[in-house]
Amino acid sequence: MGKINDIDMEKWKDYDDIITDSLWIIDKRDKSGNHKGDYHGNFIPQIPNQLIKRYTKENDWVLDAFLGSGTTLIECKRLNRNGIGIDIDSEILNIAKERATSEKGNSILNFINADSSKVDLSDTLSKNNIDKVQLIIYHPPYWDIIKFNDQPGNLSSAETLDDFINGFSNVIDNTSKYLEDERYLGIVIGDIYKNSQWIPLNSYIIQLMLNKGYILKSTIVKNVSETKAKQNKKAIWRYRALLGGFYVFNHEYILIFQKPKTKKKKKTSK
Ligand SMILES: C[S@@+](CC[C@H](N)C(=O)[O-])C[C@H]1O[C@@H](n2cnc3c(N)ncnc32)[C@H](O)[C@@H]1O
Repeated sequence: MGKINDIDMEKWKDYDDIITDSLWIIDKRDKSGNHKGDYHGNFIPQIPNQLIKRYTKENDWVLDAFLGSGTTLIECKRLNRNGIGIDIDSEILNIAKERATSEKGNSILNFINADSSKVDLSDTLSKNNIDKVQLIIYHPPYWDIIKFNDQPGNLSSAETLDDFINGFSNVIDNTSKYLEDERYLGIVIGDIYKNSQWIPLNSYIIQLMLNKGYILKSTIVKNVSETKAKQNKKAIWRYRALLGGFYVFNHEYILIFQKPKTKKKKKTSK
């Protein structure tokens, strides 16, 4: 496999901005440029920023299958990468489009309003004269913890845990076929608490990906910084935790997987 980023290993000591530890404590959201942080459930721009710098080169292509407010494509523009973003919700996709296209930069960006478990990207790729993308970022709903939209197909409306995992699995199968072999994908996910039980979405997703043959490269734990809404409820959550025998969520996960090399089919001799 060729080089997958623009890091010059002769100068490896110069890259203070690139995180290599598995515990990320990032207290301040980057709110510069068109990053607004106003979409409930968006991730901090530092997440796609780190993944893009680590796993792509300039002019490479990044796919985000749950684009939301467009954070990944704004970062693509800043870092001179091209991008494709998909979201099932047309309203948020329009906001993403407005924000990412008006961000400074010359990247090529494509916005697709579709269900990522069904969308066919072959036309989009051929219009851009590419066969594959070099990085995929997945930031799905953490099942039903935030109701994004009631549309059928929206993973936040999945009735059961199995439906959520199967729906996510379909998104992976339908989109990761467009990832170049031996390249990377990042999944941002949090666990949830339901009916007095911790539901380890991150563990189910790791198992799912291992079953699909992906190579787990890292499990990153990132702090979840406090929003105003959370600050107001801090005392009640502490009370509930003490009473219920659990710990209050303060972290989420960034799971890094590498796509294995596709095995060449053996020719059968007649
Ligand atoms: C956690 S948010 C992503 C936020 C995004 N990273 C940002 O920074 O704004 C998840 C998004 O996935 C979208 N979504 C849910 N199910 C989907 C599906 N099957 N296909 C495409 N998008 C989906 C939701 O509409 C929502 O915008």
